[in-house]
Amino acid sequence: MISFSRPPVHWLEDIPSFVDGDKNIDHATVEAFGDEWTRFDSFSDQEIDTVAAEYFDILPAEKLREFKHAIDVGCGSGRWTRFIAKQVSSVEAVDPSEACLVARRNTADLANVRVSQASVNALPFADEAFDLAICLGVLHHVPNTQEALTSLCKKISFGGTLLLYLYYDLSNRSMPYRLLHRASEIPRKIVAHLPHKLKNLSCDLLAFCVYLPLIGMAKLTTAVSPNLGPRMPLSYYTNKSWNIIRNDARDRFGTPLEQRFSQIEIENMLHTAGMSNVRFSNNAPFWHCTAIKS
Ligand SMILES: C[S@@+](CC[C@H](N)C(=O)[O-])C[C@H]1O[C@@H](n2cnc3c(N)ncnc32)[C@H](O)[C@@H]1O
Repeated sequence: MISFSRPPVHWLEDIPSFVDGDKNIDHATVEAFGDEWTRFDSFSDQEIDTVAAEYFDILPAEKLREFKHAIDVGCGSGRWTRFIAKQVSSVEAVDPSEACLVARRNTADLANVRVSQASVNALPFADEAFDLAICLGVLHHVPNTQEALTSLCKKISFGGTLLLYLYYDLSNRSMPYRLLHRASEIPRKIVAHLPHKLKNLSCDLLAFCVYLPLIGMAKLTTAVSPNLGPRMPLSYYTNKSWNIIRNDARDRFGTPLEQRFSQIEIENMLHTAGMSNVRFSNNAPFWHCTAIKS
């Protein structure tokens, strides 16, 4: 494994913890994720492989095998840590929330994985320590995404690769789609601030009463018109399990801080962070891309 650049400030069970006064962290959001991943703490290999095929379409297994030392920043339950650990020599998985306990459990059988509690702006590793960094669905949940990205990219060696996923600003969607999304912001702002039990119940209700009917409509539309179907709201979930749908409804409606970006904004932030060769996938989830440290 890669050596730590400083000693842990304390321990969370057997996990070294480096969380100590980082300013670029939204504590309500991190606490919400701790609860979320404790609830959604396991995924079948089939569920992981189905979603991984989408996130990793621009970084396939034969390419992953070229990397040695990887870091998974904002690892959550550890599902992508598990996925890449099969291909690379070692993976450092970090998350500032109690999700790191879940990630630790989910990767306990993998000798080449170490889980730590740490935040993106205060990673306890030397600069340029990793030739691969993945950060999937994380940096739209921090107060200053540019600052976080710059800090993360410092840890990538020259020529190393970043796989990044940030929520898109829906600029590639139709007006009705954008309006529907804007309307969903109203329940989101209420539900995200509810106490955990009520929040979980509300998100389950939304998954059942809103997600399932919309997914059903997207399926029907696809059967009638294969071109129109993928443009329907929530069509992304037509091949996803109920577990993934519930988890994503909890993720979307239960998280206090979320930001959204256009491709140009992401590209500019990556350039500012010292990355080049930005390559976006044309497929959902939008936007995920790779970039090379230059
Ligand atoms: C939507 S989850 C994604 C988890 C995982 N990457 C996945 O795709 O399954 C976002 C994760 O980002 C973590 N996170 C939030 N703020 C962070 C920060 N400042 N530094 C690192 N991770 C953070 C949360 O604790 C949460 O586990």
